[in-house]
Amino acid sequence: MRISDSNLLAAIAALGVEHKAGVSLAQKTSLEIGGTSDVLVIHKHESLPGLIQLLKDKNVPHRFLGGGSNVLLPDGELPWVVLQLARQDPEVRFEGNNVFVDCAADLGRTVTTCAKHDLGGMEGLIGVPGSIGGALRMNAGAYGTQIGTHVREVKIYRAAAGQIETLRGSEINFEYRHTSFAPDDIMLTVRLELPSKSYSEILQGIRICNEKRRASQPLNQKSAGCIFKNPPGGSAGRMIDELGLKGHSVGDARVSDRHANFFINAGHATQSDMLALIADVRRRVREKYGIELEEEVIVWKEQ
Ligand code: EPU
Repeated sequence: MRISDSNLLAAIAALGVEHKAGVSLAQKTSLEIGGTSDVLVIHKHESLPGLIQLLKDKNVPHRFLGGGSNVLLPDGELPWVVLQLARQDPEVRFEGNNVFVDCAADLGRTVTTCAKHDLGGMEGLIGVPGSIGGALRMNAGAYGTQIGTHVREVKIYRAAAGQIETLRGSEINFEYRHTSFAPDDIMLTVRLELPSKSYSEILQGIRICNEKRRASQPLNQKSAGCIFKNPPGGSAGRMIDELGLKGHSVGDARVSDRHANFFINAGHATQSDMLALIADVRRRVREKYGIELEEEVIVWKEQ
């Protein structure tokens, strides 16, 4: 969606928010699927309440995009203006075992920065792509680690209240790939409390996780990680594999040959290719196993 109202553009600029016109969003997502839209880059967290109020007053539909690694966007001109947080400086600040992290920071880089300060516990998350905010929102996890375990406080823009609030970790439910944040809440800063560990011990853990991931996941291809959540007690990847669906495709959307729960963009896949592949695989799993798989990837669709 394009913003052409010059009064609105002036009000946005007055808030210190940067307006980028006609941005290709495919370049901002790990699936490399997505059309174009104007993007508003928020440099100071404090400008968020005013910005959202302004967009509401002017009836401008908007969506917030984080690291872009777990999202499937539509093609063509998007019907929303896209909001993004600029990285804060510094991204990470240490106070003993407490780490204050900017939610726009890259998850993997944060894990290694903490390691250099002899703080561990996040080794399993090393290869998970995306931002700290995205990881928080869905309680990202891998190899026995989930980020929610370490969360002590989160500063968010609480959409329902229209203001910035700080929640204690105990006020937030972190479950398997699910949290109690509202869909339109925006994560700003998190305080993690991490256990002390030597750098070499953390590096050893990181190395092991990296090796496991390299051996089982298609890391150099365009994907959104696992496309479905695992059903309770089961493995979506194993079921899809057992159905013989590795390599199965719709257009350029294809089930990975390496890990069957990774769907890759093998060329110029569109959102509808990917959605058709998701629906087809879900139907086959339902027919064979009687299980309804739930998407892990966040799909942007018009309501
Ligand atoms: N398997 C197959 N074929 C496949 C894929 C997996 O037979 O094509 C089997 C494996 O051999 C293994 C079992 O299924 O016995 C489970 O596979 P894996 O260890 O790869 O774990 P997963 O349950 O498929 C989960 C997370 C991953 C995370 C890994 C490692 C979900 C949906 N996926 O995968 O997270 O990296 O464990 O901890 O929870 C993500 O969330 O995007 C993601 C990739």
